[in-house]
Amino acid sequence: MVKPLAKLFQAPEKNILADIGKTAANMQNIIDLSIGDPDQRTALPIIEQAYQDMKAGYTHYTASAGDPGFLQAILATHNTRFHTHYDLTNVRATAGASHAMFIALGAILDPGDEVIIHEPYFTSYKVEIQAFGAKPVFVKTTADHQFQLQAADLEAAITPKTKAVIINSPNNPTGAVFSKATLAAIVAVARQYDLYLFADEVYWPYVYGAHEFIPLEALAPERTIVTGSLSKVFAMTGFRIGYLLAPEKINDAAGLLNEGVAYTPSAPGQRAGKFALEHLADFMPTLRDDFKKRLTYLATELAKVPYLKVMPAAGSIYLFVDIRQSGMDDVAFSDYLLKQKQVLVIPGRAFGDSGKGFIRIAATQDMATLALAVKAFQELKF
Ligand SMILES: Cc1ncc(COP(=O)(O)O)c(C=O)c1O
Repeated sequence: MVKPLAKLFQAPEKNILADIGKTAANMQNIIDLSIGDPDQRTALPIIEQAYQDMKAGYTHYTASAGDPGFLQAILATHNTRFHTHYDLTNVRATAGASHAMFIALGAILDPGDEVIIHEPYFTSYKVEIQAFGAKPVFVKTTADHQFQLQAADLEAAITPKTKAVIINSPNNPTGAVFSKATLAAIVAVARQYDLYLFADEVYWPYVYGAHEFIPLEALAPERTIVTGSLSKVFAMTGFRIGYLLAPEKINDAAGLLNEGVAYTPSAPGQRAGKFALEHLADFMPTLRDDFKKRLTYLATELAKVPYLKVMPAAGSIYLFVDIRQSGMDDVAFSDYLLKQKQVLVIPGRAFGDSGKGFIRIAATQDMATLALAVKAFQELKF
C-alpha cells in the first residue's frame, strides 16, 4: 500500500472530452472540428531561424527571466501596439500561456482564496487555481449579451475571499470579444474591490469586422496580469512558448515559483519567438485572414440550417453554435453528429454549465473540409 494521491485527484470528475475522444478514436475518416490547434504549418522562416540559432549555440539554459532578445521583442510588441509602458522588470518567458497562468496564480493565491472565471471558459484554469488550494468561482455569460461578462454579475460573485478575475477575450470557446465598455465596467469593479485581473490574450489578433481587441493592461496596468502566447498567433503550439507581463512584484514572485517549475522555456523556442514577434506583420495577417474566411463561411452557411442558431464570428478561431432547436442536449447532439456524420465537435457543457445547449466548432480545417462539415449539418436528420 502507498498513501493516496492529493485529494484533488482522488475522485476525478467525469471527463466529457475524454469520452467523446474515445468514441472518435475508434472511427475512420472523421472531420475533426474539435481541435484548438491551428492546422496551418508554422511559417518556414520561423523554423529556419530556430534551427540556425540552435546551430549557433542557443541550446542551453537562458537567463531565468528569458532570452534577452525574446523579452525585448515582447516588450516592443506590447508597448508599441497597446501603448503600455512595460520594461524588463515586468516580463518573463514561459512555456505557453498555461505556464504563465500557473506561476502567476501561484504568485498571488493562498489556500481558500477565490478566483472568478467567466463561463463558458477555457477548462485548464480550474485545476490551476485548485492546485494552490484556492477556489474557482464561475460567473455565467449568455448569448443574449454576446457572452460578455456583465459587471453586475461579476460584482454579485465577489466575496471577502475573492482575489482575482480571469478575463479571456477574444474568448475560447465563445468567440466573444469584450468591448471597451465591458472592460471598463470590469476594471471599475476590480478597483472598487481591489482585485487582480488576469488578461488571457492568446487570441489577441483574431478579431473580425468591427470588433477590436482592447488590451486590459492598458486600462488597469496596476492590477493586470497578462498571459500571452505565440501558440495561436503564429501557429506555434508545439514550440510551447509564451510570456507573462505583470507588475514587478508579481513577476518577481512568479519567478521565484518558476525556479522550481520550469526555470525557463526552451531556448530554441524563445529564439523562434523573438523572430516571430519581430516579423509579426509578415506572418500574422495570413493566419487571421484564413480564420476570418473560414469562420465567416461557417457562420453564414450554418445560419441557414434550421435547427442551428449562429452569431457572426467576433473573434478567436471558434464558433459557438446554439443547437437547442434540434431537440437534443449538447452531449447527445455531439454524439449523434459524430455517429451519423463522422463530424467531431465539442459539447458546450465541457466549458461549464452555461455552455449547455451549444457546441464549439473549431475552424482548424481547410475550406474544403469545412464544406464537407457544412453538408453534414445540412443533411443531419432527426
Ligand atoms: C484561452 C486559452 N488560454 C490559454 C491557452 C493555452 O495556450 P498555450 O499553448 O500558450 O499554453 C489556450 C489554448 O487552447 C486557450 O484557448
